[in-house]
Amino acid sequence: MNILLLGSGGREHALAWKIKQSPKTDQLYIAPGNAGTAQAGVNVAISATDFPALKQLVLEKQIQLVVVGPEDPLVKGVYDFFKNDSELKNIPVVGPSQAGARLEGSKDFAKAFMMRHEIPTARYLSVTKATLAQGIEFLRSLQAPYVLKADGLAAGKGVLIIPSLEEAIRELEIMLNGSFGKASETVVIEEFLSGIECSVFVMTDGNSYKILPEAKDYKRIGEGDTGLNTGGMGAVSPVPFADKTFMQKVKQRIVIPTIEGLKKENIDYKGFIFLGLINVSGEPFVIEYNCRMGDPETEVVMLRIQSDFVELLTGVADGTLNEKELTVDPRSAVTVMLVSGGYPGDYEKGKPVFGLNETAGSLIFHAGTTEKGGQIVTNGGRVIAVSSYGHNKEEALRQSYSQAAVIQFEGKYYRNDIGFDLA
Ligand code: AMP
Ligand code: GLY
Repeated sequence: MNILLLGSGGREHALAWKIKQSPKTDQLYIAPGNAGTAQAGVNVAISATDFPALKQLVLEKQIQLVVVGPEDPLVKGVYDFFKNDSELKNIPVVGPSQAGARLEGSKDFAKAFMMRHEIPTARYLSVTKATLAQGIEFLRSLQAPYVLKADGLAAGKGVLIIPSLEEAIRELEIMLNGSFGKASETVVIEEFLSGIECSVFVMTDGNSYKILPEAKDYKRIGEGDTGLNTGGMGAVSPVPFADKTFMQKVKQRIVIPTIEGLKKENIDYKGFIFLGLINVSGEPFVIEYNCRMGDPETEVVMLRIQSDFVELLTGVADGTLNEKELTVDPRSAVTVMLVSGGYPGDYEKGKPVFGLNETAGSLIFHAGTTEKGGQIVTNGGRVIAVSSYGHNKEEALRQSYSQAAVIQFEGKYYRNDIGFDLA
């Protein structure tokens, strides 16, 4: 079948790599893709949110399945666009409806959803300018530090963790006055939970589900989890603390009530659910939902899926996921992200990337690259994800770090301590 994948990051290169391996795949197109996805399929220079242009492409290339990588097109309603178009309505989109994407697109919606379905999460209150006084009162009832979240999408920057009450009150007012634009017209105030985080991924066709291998990502720019938040500097799978007992709790208390909740609320959801979890003394709590796979988690999760991924995707699309098999590679998989100097602040693009063809024994996923006059150059903050297998995470990390040294570009930086906090 002909498949169209939307997006342009390391996640999409890893998805493209896995989709390409399936004997069911004829042609794979990626819109817009990057220099790495061009090795797995055909890049098409169309934005993932340009729905009319995507329609033309889908009809012209006789696409039979659309897989959505990032949240943006989902929150903007790509699923509904296809469903409501007479020429596209029979072409399945793997990704939730706009209503389902609110699990990520609105933190207020996600928290209320978890309350309705008794899914464990931090205590919270959603406030607007009109209810500022209640917000301040709620803040006073909590212990430091204080968690403030812009309700809407804020490019991963909308969560503030604030040490003092005075500062939290001041920041709440600033947010409600529009520091994140429309996204912070509503602010979710949360109780701070203390624990270690991990990401769990679920594929669902709306009825049945498969729990994919879990992963832990490293969001801060600096070693020892210090400095500014990034899109993710590396990831490890499996996660030692996510043992059988923990995962059983995740399944019973979070995965099943989430799928059942979506069903009860008549929300059309055929796609991925990303559970951002925190382990508080052995008990899982939901920190956030995302309506897509994680990046860079996908750059390890895809390595650990042994089954034909296109079989699973078609199971999601046509409601036969329960008939499909998910087999998982018992080995460890890790990824180390090579980023541009200055990221996540200002950085330069267009730096030639050398050594890509000299690497051995790792999977080199492109996160932010493009081709210019036959040369691969940097095109983003996160540039290359170096993924490797190992019998344990130490072995996999040794392998990734050996290859991280082979790839060169001006300003290259990476964390040397991925996995440092895991047993
Ligand atoms: P989010 O965008 O919701 O994932 O939040 C970004 C990060 O803020 C999370 O990965 C956590 O590290 C942290 N965080 C968010 N909510 C809480 C909370 N209630 N307690 C502790 N940390 C949190
Ligand atoms: N790695 C976190 C995310 O994809 O949001």
